[in-house]
Amino acid sequence: MVHPLSQAPQHFRWSSVVGLHVLSILSLLFLLWAGYVPAAMAQAQQISEPVRIRFSHVVAENTPKGQTALRFKALLEERTQGRMRVDIYPNAKLYSDRDEMEAMQLGAVEILAPSLSKFGRLGFPEFELFDLPFLFATQADVRRITEGGLGQALLQRLQRQHMVGLGFLDNGFKHMSANRPLLEPADYQGLRMRVQSSRTIARQMRALGARPVDLPFSETRRALGTGVVDGTENPISNFWTQHMHEVQTDLTLTGHGFLGYAIVVSAPFWKNLSHQQRQHIQSAMNDALDWGNSVATGQNEEALRALQVTGKTRIHSLTPEQRTRLRSTVQPVWDDLGHRIGSSWLQMARDTQSSQ
Ligand code: SIN
Repeated sequence: MVHPLSQAPQHFRWSSVVGLHVLSILSLLFLLWAGYVPAAMAQAQQISEPVRIRFSHVVAENTPKGQTALRFKALLEERTQGRMRVDIYPNAKLYSDRDEMEAMQLGAVEILAPSLSKFGRLGFPEFELFDLPFLFATQADVRRITEGGLGQALLQRLQRQHMVGLGFLDNGFKHMSANRPLLEPADYQGLRMRVQSSRTIARQMRALGARPVDLPFSETRRALGTGVVDGTENPISNFWTQHMHEVQTDLTLTGHGFLGYAIVVSAPFWKNLSHQQRQHIQSAMNDALDWGNSVATGQNEEALRALQVTGKTRIHSLTPEQRTRLRSTVQPVWDDLGHRIGSSWLQMARDTQSSQ
Protein backbone atom coordinates (compact mmCIF):
# COMPACT_ATOMS: atom_id res chain seq x y z
CA MET A 1 0.00 0.00 0.00
CA VAL A 2 1.25 3.34 -0.88
CA HIS A 3 1.47 5.74 1.93
CA PRO A 4 -0.65 8.82 1.09
CA LEU A 5 2.21 11.00 2.05
CA SER A 6 4.53 9.27 -0.42
CA GLN A 7 2.33 10.42 -3.37
CA ALA A 8 2.70 14.04 -2.59
CA PRO A 9 6.32 14.39 -3.72
CA GLN A 10 5.62 12.36 -6.88
CA HIS A 11 2.70 14.60 -7.85
CA PHE A 12 4.90 17.57 -7.07
CA ARG A 13 7.71 16.22 -9.38
CA TRP A 14 5.30 15.82 -12.31
CA SER A 15 4.15 19.39 -12.13
CA SER A 16 7.77 20.53 -11.91
CA VAL A 17 8.67 18.61 -15.06
CA VAL A 18 5.70 20.04 -16.97
CA GLY A 19 6.54 23.49 -15.69
CA LEU A 20 10.12 23.12 -16.78
CA HIS A 21 9.05 22.02 -20.25
CA VAL A 22 6.73 24.98 -20.62
CA LEU A 23 9.50 27.24 -19.45
CA SER A 24 12.01 25.76 -21.90
CA ILE A 25 9.56 26.01 -24.78
CA LEU A 26 8.82 29.61 -23.89
CA SER A 27 12.55 30.40 -23.63
CA LEU A 28 13.16 28.68 -26.93
CA LEU A 29 10.37 30.66 -28.55
CA PHE A 30 11.77 33.83 -27.07
CA LEU A 31 15.28 33.06 -28.31
CA LEU A 32 13.97 32.21 -31.76
CA TRP A 33 11.99 35.42 -31.79
CA ALA A 34 14.95 37.45 -30.53
CA GLY A 35 17.26 35.94 -33.14
CA TYR A 36 14.81 35.82 -35.97
CA VAL A 37 13.35 39.29 -35.74
CA PRO A 38 16.62 41.25 -36.16
CA ALA A 39 17.74 38.89 -38.94
CA ALA A 40 14.41 39.22 -40.68
CA MET A 41 14.48 42.96 -40.18
CA ALA A 42 18.00 43.17 -41.62
CA GLN A 43 16.88 41.05 -44.55
CA ALA A 44 13.82 43.21 -45.14
CA GLN A 45 16.00 46.29 -44.90
CA GLN A 46 18.38 44.79 -47.47
CA ILE A 47 15.47 44.23 -49.81
CA SER A 48 13.85 47.61 -49.35
CA GLU A 49 16.74 49.98 -48.59
CA PRO A 50 19.74 50.36 -50.87
CA VAL A 51 23.26 50.23 -49.45
CA ARG A 52 24.32 53.85 -49.33
CA ILE A 53 27.88 54.83 -50.23
CA ARG A 54 29.01 58.37 -49.52
CA PHE A 55 31.87 59.36 -51.83
CA SER A 56 33.51 62.63 -50.87
CA HIS A 57 36.17 64.48 -52.84
CA VAL A 58 37.58 67.98 -53.05
CA VAL A 59 37.66 68.87 -56.76
CA ALA A 60 35.07 70.03 -59.28
CA GLU A 61 32.81 67.61 -61.16
CA ASN A 62 34.32 68.44 -64.54
CA THR A 63 37.77 67.08 -63.64
CA PRO A 64 39.18 63.56 -64.15
CA LYS A 65 38.32 62.68 -60.54
CA GLY A 66 34.87 64.29 -60.61
CA GLN A 67 33.95 62.52 -63.84
CA THR A 68 35.30 59.16 -62.72
CA ALA A 69 33.27 59.37 -59.50
CA LEU A 70 30.11 60.04 -61.55
CA ARG A 71 30.88 57.13 -63.83
CA PHE A 72 31.38 54.81 -60.87
CA LYS A 73 28.03 55.89 -59.46
CA ALA A 74 26.24 55.29 -62.78
CA LEU A 75 27.83 51.85 -63.27
CA LEU A 76 27.23 50.60 -59.75
CA GLU A 77 23.64 51.82 -59.51
CA GLU A 78 22.78 50.37 -62.92
CA ARG A 79 24.44 47.00 -62.29
CA THR A 80 22.78 46.55 -58.89
CA GLN A 81 19.44 47.96 -60.11
CA GLY A 82 19.62 50.61 -57.43
CA ARG A 83 20.34 48.20 -54.56
CA MET A 84 23.58 50.11 -54.05
CA ARG A 85 23.41 53.88 -54.14
CA VAL A 86 26.33 56.31 -54.41
CA ASP A 87 25.99 59.87 -53.12
CA ILE A 88 28.85 62.03 -54.37
CA TYR A 89 29.97 65.15 -52.53
CA PRO A 90 32.39 67.08 -54.78
CA ASN A 91 34.25 70.35 -54.17
CA ALA A 92 34.92 69.60 -50.47
CA LYS A 93 31.18 70.13 -49.85
CA LEU A 94 31.26 67.61 -47.05
CA TYR A 95 34.91 67.50 -45.91
CA SER A 96 38.11 69.26 -46.86
CA ASP A 97 41.19 67.18 -47.59
CA ARG A 98 42.35 67.77 -44.02
CA ASP A 99 39.20 66.25 -42.51
CA GLU A 100 38.07 63.61 -44.97
CA MET A 101 40.32 60.81 -43.71
CA GLU A 102 39.20 61.33 -40.15
CA ALA A 103 35.57 61.37 -41.34
CA MET A 104 36.13 57.98 -42.95
CA GLN A 105 37.69 56.55 -39.78
CA LEU A 106 34.58 57.72 -37.92
CA GLY A 107 32.23 56.10 -40.44
CA ALA A 108 30.86 59.40 -41.80
CA VAL A 109 31.89 58.63 -45.38
CA GLU A 110 32.65 55.38 -47.20
CA ILE A 111 34.80 56.24 -50.24
CA LEU A 112 37.51 58.87 -50.78
CA ALA A 113 39.98 59.60 -53.56
CA PRO A 114 42.77 61.63 -51.95
CA SER A 115 45.76 62.65 -53.97
CA LEU A 116 48.77 60.37 -53.43
CA SER A 117 50.61 63.32 -51.88
CA LYS A 118 48.22 63.32 -48.92
CA PHE A 119 49.01 59.82 -47.66
CA GLY A 120 52.41 60.73 -46.23
CA ARG A 121 50.75 62.71 -43.46
CA LEU A 122 48.72 59.62 -42.54
CA GLY A 123 51.81 57.56 -41.90
CA PHE A 124 52.50 56.33 -45.44
CA PRO A 125 55.57 58.37 -46.48
CA GLU A 126 56.31 55.85 -49.26
CA PHE A 127 53.40 57.40 -51.20
CA GLU A 128 55.46 60.59 -51.50
CA LEU A 129 57.49 58.69 -54.03
CA PHE A 130 55.06 60.10 -56.59
CA ASP A 131 55.96 63.65 -55.51
CA LEU A 132 59.63 63.37 -56.41
CA PRO A 133 60.29 66.06 -59.02
CA PHE A 134 60.97 64.78 -62.53
CA LEU A 135 60.43 61.13 -61.57
CA PHE A 136 58.06 60.59 -64.48
CA ALA A 137 58.47 61.73 -68.06
CA THR A 138 55.19 60.37 -69.40
CA GLN A 139 51.87 59.07 -68.18
CA ALA A 140 53.02 55.58 -69.24
CA ASP A 141 55.85 55.84 -66.66
CA VAL A 142 53.25 56.48 -63.98
CA ARG A 143 51.11 53.60 -65.18
CA ARG A 144 54.03 51.17 -64.93
CA ILE A 145 54.14 51.86 -61.21
CA THR A 146 50.43 52.09 -60.46
CA GLU A 147 49.54 49.02 -62.49
CA GLY A 148 52.51 46.90 -61.41
CA GLY A 149 53.51 45.10 -58.23
CA LEU A 150 54.73 48.31 -56.61
CA GLY A 151 51.29 49.92 -56.94
CA GLN A 152 49.60 46.85 -55.47
CA ALA A 153 52.06 46.77 -52.57
CA LEU A 154 51.29 50.42 -51.83
CA LEU A 155 47.53 49.79 -51.81
CA GLN A 156 47.97 46.77 -49.52
CA ARG A 157 49.72 48.93 -46.94
CA LEU A 158 46.63 51.07 -46.46
CA GLN A 159 44.93 48.29 -44.48
CA ARG A 160 47.07 49.34 -41.54
CA GLN A 161 44.86 52.44 -41.27
CA HIS A 162 41.59 50.58 -41.93
CA MET A 163 41.39 51.48 -45.60
CA VAL A 164 40.99 49.16 -48.57
CA GLY A 165 42.68 50.47 -51.71
CA LEU A 166 40.51 49.97 -54.79
CA GLY A 167 42.87 51.41 -57.40
CA PHE A 168 44.71 54.41 -58.81
CA LEU A 169 43.50 57.30 -60.89
CA ASP A 170 45.52 59.79 -62.94
CA ASN A 171 44.99 63.47 -63.04
CA GLY A 172 48.06 64.72 -64.85
CA PHE A 173 51.35 66.58 -64.81
CA LYS A 174 51.63 69.60 -62.56
CA HIS A 175 52.69 73.04 -63.68
CA MET A 176 53.74 76.11 -61.71
CA SER A 177 51.70 79.30 -61.54
CA ALA A 178 52.26 82.73 -59.97
CA ASN A 179 51.87 86.39 -60.86
CA ARG A 180 55.06 86.24 -62.85
CA PRO A 181 56.65 83.77 -65.25
CA LEU A 182 58.66 81.03 -63.52
CA LEU A 183 61.27 80.30 -66.15
CA GLU A 184 64.44 80.18 -64.07
CA PRO A 185 65.01 78.89 -60.53
CA ALA A 186 65.72 82.49 -59.47
CA ASP A 187 62.13 83.43 -60.35
CA TYR A 188 60.86 81.41 -57.38
CA GLN A 189 62.96 83.34 -54.89
CA GLY A 190 60.85 84.48 -51.92
CA LEU A 191 57.48 83.35 -53.33
CA ARG A 192 54.96 81.83 -50.96
CA MET A 193 53.82 78.73 -52.80
CA ARG A 194 50.76 76.75 -51.71
CA VAL A 195 51.56 73.05 -51.41
CA GLN A 196 49.69 69.90 -50.50
CA SER A 197 50.57 68.28 -47.19
CA SER A 198 53.63 66.48 -48.57
CA ARG A 199 57.08 66.99 -47.11
CA THR A 200 58.56 66.10 -50.47
CA ILE A 201 56.68 68.88 -52.26
CA ALA A 202 57.53 71.33 -49.47
CA ARG A 203 61.20 70.42 -49.84
CA GLN A 204 60.97 70.92 -53.59
CA MET A 205 59.68 74.48 -53.08
CA ARG A 206 62.47 75.21 -50.61
CA ALA A 207 65.04 73.92 -53.08
CA LEU A 208 63.73 76.56 -55.47
CA GLY A 209 64.06 79.33 -52.91
CA ALA A 210 60.28 79.60 -52.33
CA ARG A 211 58.38 79.28 -49.06
CA PRO A 212 55.94 76.34 -49.00
CA VAL A 213 52.54 77.04 -47.43
CA ASP A 214 50.49 73.92 -46.72
CA LEU A 215 46.81 74.65 -47.36
CA PRO A 216 43.75 72.50 -48.06
CA PHE A 217 42.78 72.45 -51.71
CA SER A 218 39.42 74.08 -50.97
CA GLU A 219 41.20 77.16 -49.58
CA THR A 220 43.75 77.54 -52.33
CA ARG A 221 41.80 79.68 -54.80
CA ARG A 222 40.86 82.17 -52.07
CA ALA A 223 44.39 82.26 -50.68
CA LEU A 224 45.71 83.08 -54.15
CA GLY A 225 43.05 85.76 -54.60
CA THR A 226 43.72 87.47 -51.30
CA GLY A 227 47.50 87.25 -51.62
CA VAL A 228 47.96 84.88 -48.67
CA VAL A 229 50.05 82.87 -51.14
CA ASP A 230 51.68 84.00 -54.39
CA GLY A 231 51.55 80.85 -56.45
CA THR A 232 50.99 77.12 -56.58
CA GLU A 233 51.42 73.94 -58.64
CA ASN A 234 48.58 71.97 -60.22
CA PRO A 235 47.49 70.01 -63.25
CA ILE A 236 45.64 72.32 -65.61
CA SER A 237 42.29 70.61 -64.99
CA ASN A 238 42.41 71.75 -61.36
CA PHE A 239 43.80 75.18 -62.25
CA TRP A 240 41.00 75.76 -64.74
CA THR A 241 38.05 74.36 -62.78
CA GLN A 242 39.00 76.31 -59.64
CA HIS A 243 39.20 79.50 -61.72
CA MET A 244 42.76 80.08 -60.65
CA HIS A 245 43.34 81.88 -63.95
CA GLU A 246 41.34 84.76 -62.48
CA VAL A 247 43.94 85.23 -59.75
CA GLN A 248 47.19 84.12 -61.39
CA THR A 249 48.65 86.05 -64.30
CA ASP A 250 51.18 83.41 -65.37
CA LEU A 251 51.21 79.68 -65.81
CA THR A 252 54.53 78.04 -66.66
CA LEU A 253 54.32 74.59 -68.21
CA THR A 254 56.97 72.90 -66.09
CA GLY A 255 55.46 69.38 -65.96
CA HIS A 256 57.85 68.76 -63.06
CA GLY A 257 55.59 66.45 -61.09
CA PHE A 258 52.54 64.27 -61.26
CA LEU A 259 49.17 64.35 -59.51
CA GLY A 260 47.33 61.07 -59.08
CA TYR A 261 44.88 59.54 -56.63
CA ALA A 262 44.28 56.36 -54.67
CA ILE A 263 40.65 55.34 -54.30
CA VAL A 264 40.04 54.04 -50.79
CA VAL A 265 37.05 52.52 -49.06
CA SER A 266 36.50 52.24 -45.33
CA ALA A 267 37.60 48.77 -44.17
CA PRO A 268 34.82 48.29 -41.54
CA PHE A 269 32.21 49.20 -44.18
CA TRP A 270 33.85 46.84 -46.67
CA LYS A 271 33.88 43.94 -44.20
CA ASN A 272 30.16 44.31 -43.54
CA LEU A 273 29.28 43.89 -47.21
CA SER A 274 28.51 40.56 -48.80
CA HIS A 275 31.02 39.03 -51.20
CA GLN A 276 28.77 39.90 -54.10
CA GLN A 277 28.38 43.52 -53.02
CA ARG A 278 32.15 43.87 -52.76
CA GLN A 279 32.53 42.40 -56.21
CA HIS A 280 30.00 44.87 -57.60
CA ILE A 281 31.90 47.81 -56.10
CA GLN A 282 35.31 46.62 -57.24
CA SER A 283 34.20 45.88 -60.78
CA ALA A 284 32.30 49.17 -61.18
CA MET A 285 35.35 50.99 -59.82
CA ASN A 286 37.76 49.09 -62.11
CA ASP A 287 35.68 50.06 -65.14
CA ALA A 288 35.34 53.67 -63.98
CA LEU A 289 39.10 53.90 -63.38
CA ASP A 290 39.94 52.39 -66.77
CA TRP A 291 37.74 55.01 -68.34
CA GLY A 292 39.05 57.85 -66.12
CA ASN A 293 42.67 56.96 -66.84
CA SER A 294 41.97 56.94 -70.56
CA VAL A 295 40.43 60.43 -70.58
CA ALA A 296 42.53 62.28 -67.96
CA THR A 297 45.18 63.52 -70.40
CA GLY A 298 42.51 64.71 -72.84
CA GLN A 299 40.69 66.58 -70.07
CA ASN A 300 43.87 68.42 -69.14
CA GLU A 301 44.49 69.31 -72.79
CA GLU A 302 40.93 70.56 -73.08
CA ALA A 303 41.39 72.69 -69.95
CA LEU A 304 44.56 74.18 -71.46
CA ARG A 305 42.67 75.10 -74.63
CA ALA A 306 39.87 76.69 -72.60
CA LEU A 307 42.44 78.63 -70.60
CA GLN A 308 44.11 79.90 -73.77
CA VAL A 309 40.73 81.12 -75.04
CA THR A 310 40.13 83.29 -71.96
CA GLY A 311 43.50 85.00 -72.52
CA LYS A 312 43.55 85.83 -68.81
CA THR A 313 46.68 83.93 -67.89
CA ARG A 314 49.90 84.08 -69.90
CA ILE A 315 51.13 80.57 -70.65
CA HIS A 316 54.87 79.94 -70.85
CA SER A 317 56.91 76.96 -71.99
CA LEU A 318 60.43 76.16 -70.81
CA THR A 319 63.34 75.88 -73.20
CA PRO A 320 65.31 72.62 -72.81
CA GLU A 321 68.06 74.59 -71.02
CA GLN A 322 65.60 76.18 -68.59
CA ARG A 323 64.15 72.77 -67.91
CA THR A 324 67.59 71.31 -67.21
CA ARG A 325 68.34 74.13 -64.75
CA LEU A 326 65.01 73.61 -62.98
CA ARG A 327 65.65 69.90 -62.80
CA SER A 328 69.12 70.21 -61.34
CA THR A 329 67.93 72.77 -58.76
CA VAL A 330 65.37 70.35 -57.36
CA GLN A 331 67.66 67.32 -57.54
CA PRO A 332 68.66 67.55 -53.83
CA VAL A 333 65.06 66.64 -52.94
CA TRP A 334 65.80 63.10 -54.07
CA ASP A 335 68.78 62.80 -51.73
CA ASP A 336 67.10 64.49 -48.77
CA LEU A 337 63.77 62.68 -48.97
CA GLY A 338 65.13 59.26 -49.83
CA HIS A 339 65.23 58.25 -46.19
CA ARG A 340 61.64 59.46 -45.60
CA ILE A 341 60.23 57.61 -48.59
CA GLY A 342 62.39 54.57 -47.94
CA SER A 343 65.32 53.47 -50.05
CA SER A 344 63.71 50.14 -50.93
CA TRP A 345 60.61 51.88 -52.36
CA LEU A 346 62.83 54.27 -54.30
CA GLN A 347 64.83 51.38 -55.66
CA MET A 348 61.66 49.50 -56.67
CA ALA A 349 60.46 52.60 -58.53
CA ARG A 350 63.79 52.95 -60.31
CA ASP A 351 63.80 49.25 -61.22
CA THR A 352 60.24 49.46 -62.54
CA GLN A 353 61.19 52.41 -64.73
CA SER A 354 64.40 50.93 -66.05
CA SER A 355 63.04 47.43 -66.71
CA GLN A 356 60.91 48.84 -69.54
C1 SIN B 1 42.98 67.06 -55.81
O1 SIN B 1 43.16 67.03 -57.02
O2 SIN B 1 42.35 66.22 -55.17
C2 SIN B 1 43.55 68.20 -55.01
C3 SIN B 1 44.98 68.39 -55.25
C4 SIN B 1 45.57 69.48 -54.40
O3 SIN B 1 45.32 69.53 -53.19
O4 SIN B 1 46.33 70.29 -54.95
